[in-house]
Amino acid sequence: MRIVQMSDIHTGTPLFRPEMLDAAIEETNALAPDLVAVAGDLTTEGYRWEFEEAKSYLDRIECPNVVVIMGNHDAKNVGYRHFEDLFGLRSRSVTVPIPEGEAKVVALDSTKPDLAEGEVGRENYAWLDSELRGWDRGPRIAMVHHHILAVPGTGRDRNNLRDAGDVMAILRELKVDMVLSGHRHVPYVWSVSGVRIIHSGTVSSLRVRGIIAPSYNVIEFGTEKVAVNLRRPGEGEEPLASFSRQAVTTSEVFPELERFVRYDKASMQG
Ligand SMILES: [Fe+2]
Ligand SMILES: [Fe+2]
Repeated sequence: MRIVQMSDIHTGTPLFRPEMLDAAIEETNALAPDLVAVAGDLTTEGYRWEFEEAKSYLDRIECPNVVVIMGNHDAKNVGYRHFEDLFGLRSRSVTVPIPEGEAKVVALDSTKPDLAEGEVGRENYAWLDSELRGWDRGPRIAMVHHHILAVPGTGRDRNNLRDAGDVMAILRELKVDMVLSGHRHVPYVWSVSGVRIIHSGTVSSLRVRGIIAPSYNVIEFGTEKVAVNLRRPGEGEEPLASFSRQAVTTSEVFPELERFVRYDKASMQG
């Protein structure tokens, strides 16, 4: 399957560059991906007009499967209400038809109103588990705005996913193929215990760090290989990472997950 992963659109200030988002969307339509994953931070301050502006661009994506999640900026000023009005549920699971079956995408809302940091939260673990455990029709994909692992070249790390350890252990247990994240505005890839953790940069803003230019990711999830390519809108592509399709891990952890992480059973989502 082919995935376009973009994040950190950041409408709302002169740092937003519409020509970059225009180019990224034109290129996305030409790529005809199976899934477009928009990994949060559509806006800068969470204002309705910023969401409306972001939506006016995202509505031009022709892919039938566009999954959009919240970022911390979208949770400012009670922006999550506008998100819900314009994009629907903040957490949801979606199945995506692909040539070799069906991918399962679980979109998580890691944001907290007006906070830069985030967490998935214990109340969501059982739901995440029930959606992904044993899924065998295709890739298992999670989306979460905040970074689970530190991203290099981003300065001091103050707001990674607060429950990163628990979430990482669950993703490992569930044999998740890929986690798609944004937030740090630097594209980077880790592979830990068979879980590929793929960060996209900022697609259309000048809120960059150091020498890293605005970009988005194109992921080719093939039968033999998983390739992640970096695209600068309107300026071509370079390889970012590649993995074998069969997740490679040299470690195994033997104790049951519950020794480390206990699910909150009281509030399972549907
Ligand atoms: Fe951002
Ligand atoms: Fe963010």
